[in-house]
Amino acid sequence: MKTYLKILSTGICVPEKILTNQDLEKMVDTSDEWIVTRTGVRERRISDKGVSTSDLGAAAARMALKNAGMTAEELDLIMVATASGDHLFPSTACIIQEKLGAKRATAFDISAACSGFLYCLTVAHSLLNIGAFRNALIIGAETLSKITDYKDRSTCVLFGDGAGAMLVTLGKGKKGIFASHLGSDGSLSCLLNLPAGGSRMPATVETVEQDLHYIKMNGNGLFKVAVRAMEEAAVKTLEKVKITSEDIDLLIPHQANIRIITSLRKRLDIEEEKVYVNIERYGNTSAASIPIAYHEARLQGRIDENSIVLMVAFGGGITWGGVLVKG
Ligand code: UT7
Repeated sequence: MKTYLKILSTGICVPEKILTNQDLEKMVDTSDEWIVTRTGVRERRISDKGVSTSDLGAAAARMALKNAGMTAEELDLIMVATASGDHLFPSTACIIQEKLGAKRATAFDISAACSGFLYCLTVAHSLLNIGAFRNALIIGAETLSKITDYKDRSTCVLFGDGAGAMLVTLGKGKKGIFASHLGSDGSLSCLLNLPAGGSRMPATVETVEQDLHYIKMNGNGLFKVAVRAMEEAAVKTLEKVKITSEDIDLLIPHQANIRIITSLRKRLDIEEEKVYVNIERYGNTSAASIPIAYHEARLQGRIDENSIVLMVAFGGGITWGGVLVKG
């Protein structure tokens, strides 16, 4: 893509309530030591009863709007990446549009699990590029705790809640998002899914009794494809603009597991100091993980206007993606 998608501002929202590994030790047969060494997670945020994904997404969006000095009426497009939306329909984006009062905006969700935020950025870039919209609000928001089985130790130690938002517009200068690569392989959908509640398995008393409204995951199977998929996403994104991993100032990987991040970093031959990691504080927040990490890295001064940042993700579907940003 020859144009740059300028990042005007970012915002995040994470619930106050913290669920620590010690808390989980009391809920399932696990240990802080196992969780830290196998995943890198120490604690995660959990939303209160009655708080939905759109609440977190709207709060992150308000922060981004404030940081850009922009009003919701100025938004032309709202896209939300989520795997734990408020409803099957209407879209969480429409609910956030209403909460913000963004009357002029077109709003819709994208379903690509943990890669969803990078899918949204790429689609927004194309839509802005053809002149369809000017100011876009891109949100990754999740309340995974609502669909996590806190009796299943293989998943409940991993996931957390949160939201990140990014305001973008088509830039004139050479700053912002300038390359991306997306991919999917539906033959591996069985590795990570939510079996019931859709048209294939509508909700019944039996589906509830069998815990089929919770995330089911083949962690081991996913681990193997995760590293490969993220490496492919990174390499193909870099190839598009003929740069190499040596040119990267900061790698922001999806925060799924510290061992996946380390394997990816080594395969790409990137130094540890050039990788942003916050998994110890939030766990895996799916579509929210990259925008939260990008916001924090900016705040910490780890990204300046000339930094080359590579964001890479993989997730259920399976899906994967890479996005390159300058600044
Ligand atoms: O955003 C995408 C979402 N998902 C992912 O990215 C997940 C990718 N996969 C992973 O992160 C890892 O596969 C896990 C962290 C989920 C699991 O780690 P692992 O090293 O692949 O463990 P494993 O599944 O091979 O299990 C090893 C052992 C098993 O016991 P046995 O069969 O060897 O006796 C498990 O039952 O660890 C056991 N185990 C646990 N033990 C203590 C699994 N979960 C736990 C736990 N605490 N929470």
